[in-house]
Amino acid sequence: MPDQLVLGIETSCDETALALLKNGELLDQVLSSQADLHAVFGGVVPELASREHCRFLPSLFDQIVARNGISPENINLIAVARGPGLLGSLLVGGAFAKALAFGLQCPVLGVNHLHAHLLANGLTQKLVYPAIGLLVSGGHTHLYRINSPEEFITLGRSLDDAAGEIFDKIGNALGLPYPAGSQVDELGRKGSSENWTLPAPYLFNDNLDFSFSGLKTAAVTLIQKQGLENMDAARNREDFCGCLNETVSRILVEKTRRAFDRVKEARALWIAGGVAANSFLRKDLALLAEEKGVEFLSPPLSLCTDNGAMIAYAGWLLSQRGCRHGMDFMIYPRGQIIPDDFERSRINP
Ligand code: KG4
Ligand code: ZN
Repeated sequence: MPDQLVLGIETSCDETALALLKNGELLDQVLSSQADLHAVFGGVVPELASREHCRFLPSLFDQIVARNGISPENINLIAVARGPGLLGSLLVGGAFAKALAFGLQCPVLGVNHLHAHLLANGLTQKLVYPAIGLLVSGGHTHLYRINSPEEFITLGRSLDDAAGEIFDKIGNALGLPYPAGSQVDELGRKGSSENWTLPAPYLFNDNLDFSFSGLKTAAVTLIQKQGLENMDAARNREDFCGCLNETVSRILVEKTRRAFDRVKEARALWIAGGVAANSFLRKDLALLAEEKGVEFLSPPLSLCTDNGAMIAYAGWLLSQRGCRHGMDFMIYPRGQIIPDDFERSRINP
């Protein structure tokens, strides 16, 4: 059988990313981050993000095909993130993917960005089902029961800020550049949490949703009161970050533990998304998986944040199961439910 090439395109937020898979294995990926541009504004500016995707997609595509010696006509499937994300950014990626598919006369598939984050675990480990999936990114915090690449059942989600937003907004109050998550993590590892107390809200209920806004308000108020934005308060900043990391992790771990109580047949815990790079959370969730006697799947740090490989891989898995889209599939911004609207066939790409 000839090689099967899948191109993945990711433009849902502020990274323009493409990847090529050969027979389900990562061949290469390219990424252009806009983080520096948006850092000036303290967060992503949607219109600027769309413009940058438009600017970078063609050259990134040329780069990835050229350096792998691939002629575009040999691509068998184009997978693109169809949401959730920023509407304009998704439209740029979606239109690029459709135009390319039209020109190359190859199939195109719209992929759920959140599911793709979790499925990316399959690039380095064997995917085990049914699983509890915790997706923690800059825009989303979701707990799923995952039955197959196509079947994700939402068990809980954040009712307000996402876990990554908590790190970014509290980091901003500490004077750290956006996105602040990895720096808060690093500072926290140098400190000790003992001298600080932060609230862990929304645990006294029997649902699997999260609420982080109370923690954000409490943390920002504390930073201002204690002058923690002052870089001279180095020791205190490190200790405070230690406490913040532990508190966010505690909240996420507690609800994930309860998800296992509900889904007794779960055989694995999968984590994904930018916040899955957090060292406190990775350690605590690995312990939870051990306690529950299930496998722990976490992506390498390079695949935690947005990337093209996860989109290509999710597209590959779905296409192997016969999922197809026509040219008219839609883009879904954050807050809208992405329908299961695949046309199903038995033909592989
Ligand atoms: O998944 P992602 O790249 O983008 C979205 O789809 O939202 O996640 C980005 C988020 C940012 O909020 C960033 O601060 C956070 O992931 N992040 C971290 C760490 N590395 C990235 N948060 C906590 N600890 C980290 N080590
Ligand atoms: Zn993401």
